[in-house]
Amino acid sequence: MLGVCYYPEHWPESMWQQDAQEMKALGLNYVRLAEFAWSKIEPQAKQYNFAWLDKAIATLAHEGLQVVLCTPTATPPKWLIDTFPDILPVDIYTGNTRGFGSRRHYDFSSENYYRESMRISEVMAKRYANNPAVVGWQTDNEIACHDTAHSGSENAKKAFQLWLQCQYKDINTLNEAWGTVFWSMEYQSFAQIELPILAVTETHPSHQLAYRRFSSDQVLRYHNDMVAVLRKFCPKHFVTHNFIPMVDTQTDNFALAKDLDFASYDNYPLGRTDLFFSNSGTADFSRYMRTGHPDFSSCSFDHVRGISKGSFWIMEQQPGPVNWGGHNPRPVPGMVRFWSWEAVAHGAQTICYFRWRQAAFAQEQMHAGIKRVDNSKSIAWYEAAQFRDELIQTGFDVNAKVHSKVAIIMAIESQWVTEIERQGDSFNQQRVEFEYYSALRQLGIDVDFISPKSDFSQYKLVVAPCLPIVNNDFVARCKASSAHFIFGPRSGAKTKELTLAPNLGPGLLQALIAVKVASVETLREDCSEALMFNQQQYVSNRWREELKDYTGLDVLARYHDEQPAVVANSHTTYIASLTDIAFLKALFGRYADMLSINTYDLPEDLRVSIRGDFGVLFNYSEKPQTFIAPSNVEFVLGSANVPAYGVCVFKQV
Ligand code: GAL
Repeated sequence: MLGVCYYPEHWPESMWQQDAQEMKALGLNYVRLAEFAWSKIEPQAKQYNFAWLDKAIATLAHEGLQVVLCTPTATPPKWLIDTFPDILPVDIYTGNTRGFGSRRHYDFSSENYYRESMRISEVMAKRYANNPAVVGWQTDNEIACHDTAHSGSENAKKAFQLWLQCQYKDINTLNEAWGTVFWSMEYQSFAQIELPILAVTETHPSHQLAYRRFSSDQVLRYHNDMVAVLRKFCPKHFVTHNFIPMVDTQTDNFALAKDLDFASYDNYPLGRTDLFFSNSGTADFSRYMRTGHPDFSSCSFDHVRGISKGSFWIMEQQPGPVNWGGHNPRPVPGMVRFWSWEAVAHGAQTICYFRWRQAAFAQEQMHAGIKRVDNSKSIAWYEAAQFRDELIQTGFDVNAKVHSKVAIIMAIESQWVTEIERQGDSFNQQRVEFEYYSALRQLGIDVDFISPKSDFSQYKLVVAPCLPIVNNDFVARCKASSAHFIFGPRSGAKTKELTLAPNLGPGLLQALIAVKVASVETLREDCSEALMFNQQQYVSNRWREELKDYTGLDVLARYHDEQPAVVANSHTTYIASLTDIAFLKALFGRYADMLSINTYDLPEDLRVSIRGDFGVLFNYSEKPQTFIAPSNVEFVLGSANVPAYGVCVFKQV
């Protein structure tokens, strides 16, 4: 299924009919509307103007297109800000109010904004509940994007104090739990507690973690209550949200998606590659600057599939150069079709392109669309059409399940702990997780991302790249599971309050693997040392733990000085260092063999994804590459010789 993001309010009404006809001709099913249209819908308080939106919907409906409406809350209009100035958030790094003039200028702790957001959502929901062309809703837009999960406002401070009171009940419990006796930080009442920002040097880590948990809860309250409003008035419509990369929401993404029918993702491979790999060497970077890294978008797809209920949507797909990366290259010809295939191979059910026509004005005028400003068709039009035809030709099932035998545990708290307590500049949680993921993908293994609370029963191997906070329930469920568990460094090292595990790392995980972390050192990334595994030399760098009390465990890998770096028993493995992807690939390959998990021998830039009965090959290289196909497959698109930047599809027979 295909769709597009359309802003009729940016174009004269005289163009709408032709736009709708062309959308139909392109084979689109869905059109997303009204995402940032609050000032158009309600130009003054409670003076609504829905005539234009009614007309746009009717024009699209006339061509058989279905409409996904958005609550317009990512862009509170100027009159609303002037009426309730406390809507504006406060920057936590400077203490300055973040002003009007772009988007997402709202504070999750402003009760005025909460009320106004629920009001406009209700008004829209009531108006369109029975419009037959409207089939679903997107809440807000890219919640928490542009660093908006946190605010340093007075409202946030008051709400935080109340939140703390609910959590800890009395102030001495909090003092005790955090250890506020350190640096004379003891409190006599909750009303004394500031936000952990703008202090002379680092603030108390337990205080910071509580603030992150609180801020996440504020986002959840706002979002989940908006979902409830839509459900109340539009019980027949689906409700989704367009997520940004999980790491950027600063919110518990599993909880954020819980009340949705499915999650959606906004896929901008080149912009994201530019930001994430900005410190890579020239050769590594330029190789993927027009394609995106082979595992980077797919990692986000697998994240979103994990928080969704089965399949997901791409709500926005990059159609050409964007405007917000450090640099904004043009995709290699064919990439829009390639990325669309990649998304469906990883579980997407619908792909919507952003946007129909390039904007002639304002902030995103340099951002491509399916059509150009002069209404000519850009390359994205032809690639979307090709993808549409190939989906039909292959019979690819966009509703099939991805059946993974391997899961990675994802928990926002791991990110928070490692951001709050850096200890070494080279430890980047997102990168650590990405390296584990990429190693599995290079072996051709399909990966699910699951929460620590998930059921492990379908998996043979469960990997936690870094999971500092665990609880007894998690440990008990690991113990009862027949899967093999692999934990990366820092796992189990902290208590819920971000204090050291009293029995040393890996803390409660010692019930799974009897080993203790005696000390931790962090090193510069360019000061790598050897790691020996299976008579091969790999790399240990950035983070190294010294292990003790490991009698009875297998020592699978050792540091250059013969000390143990990776230890295991038959059920659990503990990796005490950050390493290179080559080592992770070798280690995971060993477990895949032991646990009868299917792997593929793939050339460097080739990837394979299996969904239902179909397999899809992706060649990220500028050269053709050959896939060593198992005997039980039949190609329905292309062959095992995958052309440069090509996609081939096979069916398991
Ligand atoms: C997305 C956003 C869109 C548009 C787009 C440009 O993150 O949801 O509104 O700004 O980026 O790439």
